[in-house]
Amino acid sequence: MSNTATLNLDGKIYEFDTGIGTENEKYIDMAHLRSKTGYITLDPGFGNTGSCFSSITYVEGAKGILQHRGYPIEELAEKATFVEVAYLVIYGKLPSENELMNFSAGLKEHAPLHTNLEHHFSGFPKSAPPMAILSAMLNLVACFHPEVLEVTSDGEDFDKTATLLLSKVRTIAAFAYRMAAGKPINHPNPNRGYCGNFLHMMFSDPYQEFQVSPIVEKALNLFLILHADHEQNCSTSTVRVVGSSRANLFSSVAAGVCALWGPLHGGANAAVIAMLQDIKSSGRKPEYYIEKAKDKNDPFKLMGFGHRVYKNFDPRALILKKQVHKLLDELHINDELLDISRELEEATLKDDFFISRNLYPNVDFYSGILLRAIGIPLNMYTVMFAIGRMPGWIANWKELLDHKQRISRPRQIYTGENKRRYTSLIER
Ligand code: ACO
Repeated sequence: MSNTATLNLDGKIYEFDTGIGTENEKYIDMAHLRSKTGYITLDPGFGNTGSCFSSITYVEGAKGILQHRGYPIEELAEKATFVEVAYLVIYGKLPSENELMNFSAGLKEHAPLHTNLEHHFSGFPKSAPPMAILSAMLNLVACFHPEVLEVTSDGEDFDKTATLLLSKVRTIAAFAYRMAAGKPINHPNPNRGYCGNFLHMMFSDPYQEFQVSPIVEKALNLFLILHADHEQNCSTSTVRVVGSSRANLFSSVAAGVCALWGPLHGGANAAVIAMLQDIKSSGRKPEYYIEKAKDKNDPFKLMGFGHRVYKNFDPRALILKKQVHKLLDELHINDELLDISRELEEATLKDDFFISRNLYPNVDFYSGILLRAIGIPLNMYTVMFAIGRMPGWIANWKELLDHKQRISRPRQIYTGENKRRYTSLIER
């Protein structure tokens, strides 16, 4: 097979290198297209543009494959803990017993927030969306630890910055919830594991420490693993774009939180539940919503359906669907929204519009039902996604520095006015 691609443009022949990734993904290296030809590639939404080389996560949409550092998501979901997966995603290997012990010790050590930070939470209005608080507080936390503002992707400084972020994000999230709910904050308990500690900070009362059920802890662990990374999605690309200017990890990730917030991305998990609740309260059949989603004059979309990359099934949705049923059985919960989601999914998968466009349930379709079952309030769903996605954001930020990635600076095709003269106010 030839290792160059030939482009015939304006009567001239140009050659470009081609290459292949470890899972046989093929590419044409167009980095010098403009300097060679004067043309640029146009690809709004970057559906067809590789922005980097990466060895973190492999996704093959047509076959529903998701692997972190080579390990299939199905195996990680069944056998690993979130802390192990976080280590794997960030450092590229499963931790040894000793490495895991040190990593976990760092997470415990960095869980508390500086006391002076606490009153900042009460500065937010009660109605402040927790995603706004999370993004703002990530930048603020960094100010209390000036050493994390250093931009370094290896050695002890990086290890500390990464562990500090992974640990404190839980505390920020739980404090944001407690403050908004008008409840006293719960400081982290070093005797608890990553998920148990978060649940304690969310749900303990001053006089009664929350009894974390192993079933609930396991479900949260699974949720976080399924969100750990997903290659160059909107929020991860944002983290990389911001990080490419050599912005520090906390600021890069704070930008990632904002990108995740939107309903077309991480915000879909809360939007799905809002949609199911709407179906329930309206008393309408799911078919009504399906027709609405198909109507080109209606902005409504079926939330939790469709994916830029997965065109057959989202492996995370399959795992979640199975686990959600199991969880609800184990907790003896009868959630009408689960029945509605099942009906909606069945009706959608029979509909030609959705079949012909390869639109299937994505990870967000079932994750809200899991979060509901473990008692997480709706406005915290996307924050939960952000906690889960932290290892992926950290790993991508580290990788771009390791690879000395150039600053991100896409081009555009200008379609505005041609040069014109300024007219004074009186002449306009
Ligand atoms: N409901 C109705 N129609 C849909 C939906 C949907 N959920 N998703 C896609 N379509 C239609 C589009 O209108 C388009 O139709 P057309 O070909 O007639 O114009 C076609 O399917 C292709 O969709 P695109 O919008 O081009 O797909 P894209 O890759 O740009 O967007 C996205 C993917 C954003 C996920 C989209 O499917 C969507 O908005 N889904 C709902 C929101 C959602 O669930 N987001 C979570 C994604 S997973 C995650 O971020 C973790």
